[in-house]
Amino acid sequence: MSSPSFTMSLLLSLSLFSLFAFIAQAQNTMETTVCLASLPPPAFQLAFYNTTPNAFTLALRMGLTRSESLFRWVWEANRGNPVGENATLTFGTDGNLVLAHADGRVAWQTNTANKGVVGLKLLPTGNLVLYNSNGGFVWQSFDYPTDTLLVGQSLRAGGVSKLVSRASETENKDGPYSLVMEPKGLALYYKSANSPKPLLYFSFSERINIQTGTLDNVTLNVSPDTDEGYAYNINLDYQVAKSSSSGGIILARPKYNATSTFLRLGIDGNIKLYTYNDKVDWGAWEVTFSLFDRDNSIWETECQLPERCGSFGVCEDSQCVACPSSSGVLLGWSKTCAPEKLTSCKANSFHYYKLEGVDHFLSKYTTGSATKEVDCGKKCSSDCKCLGYFYNQDTSRCWIAYDLKTLTKVANSTHVGYIKAPNH
Ligand SMILES: *[C@@H]1O[C@H](CO)[C@@H](O)[C@H](O)[C@H]1NC(C)=O
Ligand SMILES: *[C@@H]1O[C@H](CO)[C@@H](O)[C@H](O)[C@H]1NC(C)=O
Ligand SMILES: *[C@@H]1O[C@H](CO)[C@@H](O)[C@H](O)[C@H]1NC(C)=O
Ligand SMILES: *[C@@H]1O[C@H](CO)[C@@H](O)[C@H](O)[C@H]1NC(C)=O
Repeated sequence: MSSPSFTMSLLLSLSLFSLFAFIAQAQNTMETTVCLASLPPPAFQLAFYNTTPNAFTLALRMGLTRSESLFRWVWEANRGNPVGENATLTFGTDGNLVLAHADGRVAWQTNTANKGVVGLKLLPTGNLVLYNSNGGFVWQSFDYPTDTLLVGQSLRAGGVSKLVSRASETENKDGPYSLVMEPKGLALYYKSANSPKPLLYFSFSERINIQTGTLDNVTLNVSPDTDEGYAYNINLDYQVAKSSSSGGIILARPKYNATSTFLRLGIDGNIKLYTYNDKVDWGAWEVTFSLFDRDNSIWETECQLPERCGSFGVCEDSQCVACPSSSGVLLGWSKTCAPEKLTSCKANSFHYYKLEGVDHFLSKYTTGSATKEVDCGKKCSSDCKCLGYFYNQDTSRCWIAYDLKTLTKVANSTHVGYIKAPNH
């Protein structure tokens, strides 16, 4: 599609189809789809979707035309800033692509006015590009991932270097989890309103650990294992800046053509790969990798997910097994399990109860501070936001917890937790 400007109005009759309801209705689908579509396979389309009434997101979806009912949203333009009905998407003669509210206020744009853009196209890889007369990309959607990486897409130093989870199925705004490419590695963080800074709950440091230089990019790649293509390797490959140093980790190895894959940081903070097997007529999407996994502990168990057991719970073998209480009894876990509300932060208004043989989700990937157990307690007592502290008596390490969430059961009773509870 080259230079003519086009305007597309959102239709009033859009019906709700959520990001996670994979069966979209064909009729409505047609109405919401902007004229851009790449050729299959796999097919990508630029479309509007909504998960709450009258709040639309411009997004790219992935699926095969042979089975139009199977779409996955893989990129979005205006997360956290939805548009209402009669919004317009305009590709102007100046080369700027603009999504505007009905009253003309700009909701999102590519900022490419007068930068030599002569056309707009959606590549078969799912990359939406604005290109110049030499065919160079002035802007590309691959540079702006939100929670998803497509094959060939990267996190980049000096660009978007992290994925941020979505808040919930209905709320399309930033959630608490992020996958961050750091100078020396790749890590997962949880950020809540209580915690002053994001908390590390997983690090790839055993597989990616840069000694010299800094990471330039991390890219999702898929390649056949051998010329025959009996198996396909799905990799996260990394490159070190200004160096020939590089490497990769194989995440999955499906025994079919796995070219149509994407990686997503989910609402729950897990990382999964979704692969489309085009030989299959229905149920063709398969989860080919799960970082936190119930059955396969090559990577991590589900217990290491901060919110696996909701706001409070003890997790063992990926299951929530107990709800701690100040009376010292471990009750059966349910979704309502929560720490008791503190009435005040004065020293005489609360006490601690002790849990033996537990780790906080922070304990595994952060070192904690080297202090005496009693000083660890004092630190928590003098900090209103501290909800409890965790201590390893073997290593004399202390962790202050601003969020309790999921505690993991460990064999060693020298790993202890002290939870604040109100004095009644
Ligand atoms: C694998 O799938 C991709 C995309 O669907 C396709 O372009 C490619 O030709 C396939 N490879 C083989 C060996 O069939
Ligand atoms: C959208 O446009 C239609 C047709 O012009 C109009 O009837 C409707 O009131 C508009 N809605 C809003 C929210 O502007
Ligand atoms: C990744 O980084 C390397 C080294 O700096 C660079 O040569 C390469 O072009 C980068 N790839 C992407 C996809 O950005
Ligand atoms: C607990 O940890 C200590 C020190 O690391 C070790 O000596 C001991 O054997 C562990 N106990 C169990 C039950 O794993």
